[in-house]
Amino acid sequence: QTIHLSDYTPPAYLVDKVELTFRLDPERTRVLSRIAFRPNPESREREFFLHGEGLELISSRIDGAEVTPDLVEGGLTCEVPDAPFTWEAEVEIAPVRNTALEGLYMSSGMYCTQCEAEGFRKITYYPDRPDVMAVFSVRIEGDMPVLLSNGNPVSSGDGFAEWHDPWPKPAYLFALVAGDLVDHPGHFTTRSGREVALNIWVRPGDEDKCAFAMEALKKSMTWDEDVYGREYDLDIFNIVAVDDFNMGAMENKGLNIFNSSCVLASPETSTDANFERIEAIIAHEYFHNWTGNRITCRDWFQLCLKEGLTVYRDSQFTADMRSAPVKRISDVIALRARQFREDNGPLAHPVRPESFVEINNFYTATVYEKGAEVIGMLKRLVGDADYARALDLYFERHDGQACTIEDWLAVFEEVTGRDLSQFKRWYSQAGTPRLKVTENFKDGEYTLEFEQKTPPTPGQDQKLPQVIPIAVGLLGPNGDEVVPTTVLEMTEARQSFSFSGLAAEPVPSILRDFSAPVILERETDNAERAFLLAHDTDPFNKWEAGRALAREGLCEMIVAGAPPDAAYLDAVQAMARDDALDPAFRALALGLPSQDDMAQTLHERGHTPDPQAIWEALETLRQARAQHCQDLAARLHAQYQVTEPYRPDAQQTGARALANAALGLISRLDGGAAAQRQFDTATNMTQQLYALSCLLQAGKGEDAVARFYDQWRHDRLVIDKWFMMQVLHAEPAEAAATTERLTRHSDFDMKNPNRFRATLGALAANPAGFHHASGAGYRLLADWLIRLDPVNPQTTARMCSAFETWKRYDDSRQALVAAELDRVLSTPALSRDTTEMLSRIRGA
Ligand code: ARG
Ligand code: ZN
Repeated sequence: QTIHLSDYTPPAYLVDKVELTFRLDPERTRVLSRIAFRPNPESREREFFLHGEGLELISSRIDGAEVTPDLVEGGLTCEVPDAPFTWEAEVEIAPVRNTALEGLYMSSGMYCTQCEAEGFRKITYYPDRPDVMAVFSVRIEGDMPVLLSNGNPVSSGDGFAEWHDPWPKPAYLFALVAGDLVDHPGHFTTRSGREVALNIWVRPGDEDKCAFAMEALKKSMTWDEDVYGREYDLDIFNIVAVDDFNMGAMENKGLNIFNSSCVLASPETSTDANFERIEAIIAHEYFHNWTGNRITCRDWFQLCLKEGLTVYRDSQFTADMRSAPVKRISDVIALRARQFREDNGPLAHPVRPESFVEINNFYTATVYEKGAEVIGMLKRLVGDADYARALDLYFERHDGQACTIEDWLAVFEEVTGRDLSQFKRWYSQAGTPRLKVTENFKDGEYTLEFEQKTPPTPGQDQKLPQVIPIAVGLLGPNGDEVVPTTVLEMTEARQSFSFSGLAAEPVPSILRDFSAPVILERETDNAERAFLLAHDTDPFNKWEAGRALAREGLCEMIVAGAPPDAAYLDAVQAMARDDALDPAFRALALGLPSQDDMAQTLHERGHTPDPQAIWEALETLRQARAQHCQDLAARLHAQYQVTEPYRPDAQQTGARALANAALGLISRLDGGAAAQRQFDTATNMTQQLYALSCLLQAGKGEDAVARFYDQWRHDRLVIDKWFMMQVLHAEPAEAAATTERLTRHSDFDMKNPNRFRATLGALAANPAGFHHASGAGYRLLADWLIRLDPVNPQTTARMCSAFETWKRYDDSRQALVAAELDRVLSTPALSRDTTEMLSRIRGA
């Protein structure tokens, strides 16, 4: 059953007050609700419908009198008075049997909740839609030492605790946690003097892994005050780490719940990348307090309103805390890998989708990451000052409301006087625009002519021109910048922009800072790419030039059997040698396009990608690079060893990244000797794990794999890495068998999403292995989708995207995939989540 944006109607009844009592029990939790309803003056609809799923209704009353509601598909209906009334119900649920991890469930012996998007209806009967906002009071009865819910604590005693959240909120922000937890405390004083108690709650034994997240939280609170003028609004802010969680984390009001992998950190067990990600997710969830909670979404089609904006905000935060260029480059790598891939396949959908079957399937790279890009474009178009004014107006006008993209754009229109109706197409048109550019130079005048075209996507054959901010700079023949960055505002299908008074034909640096999420198509050559890599003042385009050199060289190797490109090898060596450049930037520039990036590129250019050939070309190029940079690699590996005590900051992270990149080169030639030394002496996980990956790639991992397991068998998050590394670095022909063997390991547990993703997800992230011509990878993943679906539909459905690129490949692979998709689709009682994903992927 498909839900459409165009069918939106306001709720028939509003809620003024919610009182909940939980009598916790693993098998028989009783939930008592007392809810003050009143007819919505904005609605003429008078049917009283409450969502409810998997609930056993014990009793219900209206204004104190027992009633017998009609239990219908997905909820209940009931006769109600034509005036305000109080609804009371008692239901029973079984948290211990809730393996879907949505609603109230148990994880490692503790009770926790996940309600976004539609999990609250698995807790009690309620109008479970984000435009119904209410003040919640919660009483928890249970014999665990820690009992938490949203808002401020009211009272607690032997076996109970009461909470009150003064801020009206939709049900998806409800949370409850109960367990034997220990606390890492902290404190924050807001700018206006509110004293806030901060706590990170974890299982006993994990308390030494909270300090970093606590610091990140404080930095986030300060940053949101300084940059957006947003203060925290309760006396307490709780974060809880849980082991079993479908996503990264959740912004429940005053009680954020985190996947333990996104909060727990120590130098010995977490990589630098883990630390950076934790800092970003802590910030993201905290920032939701204003962009998401105080101002929420009218309906789930507006998801990008809170997610795009909050991702944009957390990326600004990371850019401020660390290196802005490094953050931008990493974000673009991820955007291309996940969002462009999505936009160019059967799952393509607009940033604001117009229909869905299961909303959980739309927590996507498009909604989140492209949604953030759209905010970035808007800011670039209106400028920093107007962006700040528009945000102030947004917070002032819409505080306490459930809003739409129209509300969001209206504040920008008002502040700037701009008409944003064309800009709005970024929210409604799916697909990645192709931006073609041609150049012309005559009599000192330089003209760039752009043409934009967005290919058809499912359900959208025709696309209209979008507003594209194109940041451009021009370099003179000797490498000086002759025109600094200017933002061209393209609105037509074809449009030219001229620069006059130039002494010589310039080299253009187009789409600086990746100013729009488009694919730039431009005739150029390696000499010019090398020139930009050497001279561009825009760090993003400098990196991009190196990336393009690598990509072109790889295409030639794959398509024409060319040898590794000397221009690339020289340019990358010159760049890596340049100690004036940020080590983190050099480490990024030493990265190569991923296998999937190459498949995407080849497909884009009309070739059928051969995953095995891509893998081999990358291997050959890595080998050639190692030879080419042999002396340099040894120098870099020694020079960038960090001798100070471990800090997960930008500076040390950059040094370790460059030293590890050098180790990667060295390991191609020394049979893994240097990697083995680093593995043996590593004092932190960044070094240890990278050494392990080098050993695995050198085919020398056996001993290290065994020792790593013995060292870390007690630590779930590290063992996830152990599973993942073995699958990720398995040779193409071995990958499926390696994965299958690991699923039989006693530590494999499909009920734990992190472990499932570390194993089966890693297979999907090993393209040559997953797409191996035998079809073994496809078959194994399909088997596991069938097994996991009845247990956890959400995680199963997300994993289906492994198949989203199947139409790129040859007929024989397509036939193998089609058979597997059909096999899974024909499984009896397949969940709505997985059915929707696979039918979209399978297509007509
Ligand atoms: N709002 C959360 C975040 O972005 C994600 C929750 C996703 N939940 C889901 N069921 N898809 O931080
Ligand atoms: Zn979010």
